[in-house]
Amino acid sequence: MVAAEFVVVANRLPVDRVVTADGEEIWRTSPGGLVAALEPMMHTVDGAWVGWAGMPDLELAPFTADGIRLLPVPLSASEIQLYYEGFSNDTIWPLYHDVIAPPQFHREWWDAYVTVNLRFAEAAATAVAKGGTVWVHDYQLQLVPEMVRNLRPDVTIGYFHHIPFPAHSLYAQLPWRDQVLRGLLGADVIGFQRTQDAANFIAAVKRRLGYETKAALVAMPDGRHVHVKAFPISIDTTPYRELARRPDIRARAAEIRAGLGNPKRILLGVDRLDYTKGIRHRIKAYGELLDQGRISVEDATFIQVASPSRERVDAYVHLRDEVELAIGRINGDHDTLGHTAIRYLHQGFPREEMVAMYLAADVMLVTALRDGMNLVAKEYVATRADNRGVLVLSEFTGASDELKQVVRVNPHDIEGMKDAIVVALEMPREEQARRMRSLRKRVLEHDVDAWSRSFLKALEHAAAHRHHTHEQEHA
Ligand code: F6P
Repeated sequence: MVAAEFVVVANRLPVDRVVTADGEEIWRTSPGGLVAALEPMMHTVDGAWVGWAGMPDLELAPFTADGIRLLPVPLSASEIQLYYEGFSNDTIWPLYHDVIAPPQFHREWWDAYVTVNLRFAEAAATAVAKGGTVWVHDYQLQLVPEMVRNLRPDVTIGYFHHIPFPAHSLYAQLPWRDQVLRGLLGADVIGFQRTQDAANFIAAVKRRLGYETKAALVAMPDGRHVHVKAFPISIDTTPYRELARRPDIRARAAEIRAGLGNPKRILLGVDRLDYTKGIRHRIKAYGELLDQGRISVEDATFIQVASPSRERVDAYVHLRDEVELAIGRINGDHDTLGHTAIRYLHQGFPREEMVAMYLAADVMLVTALRDGMNLVAKEYVATRADNRGVLVLSEFTGASDELKQVVRVNPHDIEGMKDAIVVALEMPREEQARRMRSLRKRVLEHDVDAWSRSFLKALEHAAAHRHHTHEQEHA
């Protein structure tokens, strides 16, 4: 295999191997914001992508899909359980999302995490050209930067953390807290979503490892300097803007509204079915507004798209039960033969259908209890070239640092959220337009291309600095 100048390492490949209902095996775009954000950049570089194909025990040779060179890393069924469902999604995920669900700490999960991280690191170290660049992504692979550095001291290493990094008081619970920090510090540049995440990380490094830090630089015992900074991620706005202009998609938006009995307003929620997203809180607020007669199902129907996620992790199984019970009750109490209260869709949809839903939605509800960024909020804004629609946004999302002209909510405050929903439903057109114009300016200017360019520029700068120091030391 030809070595690649630029190697992305992420838990998932951009495509997943899945079995359809008819038993056919197909490739499908992987879930989540990470893949959506990185894919466009990968089309512009001579690179390779190291990741898991989404199925157990799949030994696949490297292949090219949609112009991107893919290097699959196999995971056994037991590793999926211990490394992916266990340590990644039942230890780190809840701990880093402010322990909304209690994190589980198991030594055998950690052992599998170390083993699998090493496998990813070895794959990247084999794939990258001399003096090339490796860009590691997200919480599933926090040990990979240090491992790649040990294997390939000649390469430049970046790491981007797509989810929050918690305050030290919470982070300190992790039995392997020092190993994880050392793993991340193998990178030349560590990127976070928000300034607060970067500050939390720096504080943890100071307290736990006692390394000197100056502004955004961590001074390492081996003489390296690690650059730590916020790089808020975004979306490729072009496909959203183009789809939103298409007559067939606009017609589909009208059809969606008609299919719901032409309610005066449509509220929309779009999430992976995850306890961090505040889905229960938003359903509760909407249900109480109906109970109290402040709105009716003819006034406002609520579409909740909840795409299936991590379905074998206990916390997700419980969440699904709770959400579906709550929706069943609200619909039972308030549906009429012509109108439904909550149209619940436990499915993923193609982008065309998502854009039609965004166009149909008068109010977009993003009420996460904690979210690294939330790209759905940005997708909604990108589609609304008509300057209509209102974004209700939780203050606990990374997006809320950037998107100011929203109706801001604390999702734990149900009364506050009810009032916010009513404000959004009643917002005059002119005010909608004033706010949406400013939101669109921000999202269109700070798109995913700007994000990857600024990260890669920081990485280039770090590499130049490293070479300079290296030459001075050996002069
Ligand atoms: O963007 C956050 C993230 O956790 C990604 O790392 C991940 O790929 C995506 O959401 C979807 O989660 P999963 O890969 O567990 O289905």
